Amino acid sequence: MPRSLTQIIDLTAAEVNEVFDLCAKMKRKEIAPKSLEGKSVACIFTKPSLRTRISFEVGITELGGHAIYVTDNEIQLGKRESVADAARVLSRYVGLIMIRTYKQSDVEELAKYATVPIVNGLTDLVHPCQILGDYMTVLEHLPPRRKYKIAYLGDGNNITNSWLNLASLIPMDLRIATAADCQPDPEFMDRAKRNSESTINWTEDPKEAVKGADVIYTDVWASMGQKHLAEEKERKLKPFQVNSSLLKGADPKAIVLHCLPAERGKEITDEVMDGPQSAVFDQAENRLHIQKAIMHFLLTH
Ligand code: CP
Ligand code: NVA
Repeated sequence: MPRSLTQIIDLTAAEVNEVFDLCAKMKRKEIAPKSLEGKSVACIFTKPSLRTRISFEVGITELGGHAIYVTDNEIQLGKRESVADAARVLSRYVGLIMIRTYKQSDVEELAKYATVPIVNGLTDLVHPCQILGDYMTVLEHLPPRRKYKIAYLGDGNNITNSWLNLASLIPMDLRIATAADCQPDPEFMDRAKRNSESTINWTEDPKEAVKGADVIYTDVWASMGQKHLAEEKERKLKPFQVNSSLLKGADPKAIVLHCLPAERGKEITDEVMDGPQSAVFDQAENRLHIQKAIMHFLLTH
């Protein structure tokens, strides 16, 4: 069975570090593997995207492959035919499948029946490529530390769940500040807490979460597929806005991250997003490098 990345915990801690090493080498152009030479990659999108679509297509080209962009209008995954049959058919044409969709179970079903690697480009539950790339940005911007203090503020969503996944594998002091009924998935919290090397805390107090933090992270309050809840989420999550006053409580050298797209003026202010501590565009760039490393890793293990 080929290796897939349906979520970060498909990798071991050692493998996560191997992917970071590969990413750093590829970014510095010390290595330029052509692991997709002569192969095509199906990139399936049932939700919109800027970063994921373009960075995957560019990354696939740089690995020597050819990207095929497919929307749900064409394949209608699980409706026109079963996810299992789509996996079996696609595996006869392409060397890897990248998918962005709603249900995590569809990604897992693809991985179960495909004979080529599957890469999750975001579901309602997780966004593994994002958080692996984000951790690269942390490693690049901050001095080496065994355990970074990461403060996540806002909605408990696919991004929060993925931070928890990473904290279940590598040591992290993760503070999550959300409204009481916007907490991340409890299963992800429990799994992360089982890593005795990580410290996982949830609070309703944003100031407590950012105290001395190395990284301040936020994301939109209403994710794709939840835009009908935007008003309600805004009401609940307003106190968790990342602004310059909140930033004063963090370490003075802290960096600010946002997976983007941002709703400026809501979860993050312009002055923070465009300020000296913001690393959001380096973070966006790292999607390209980490995804090349992930695809290369999956194709060669
Ligand atoms: N961060 C991210 O995944 O961006 P897109 O939704 O534009 O792909
Ligand atoms: N939580 C956001 C992330 C976008 C990259 C969403 O799912 O819409």
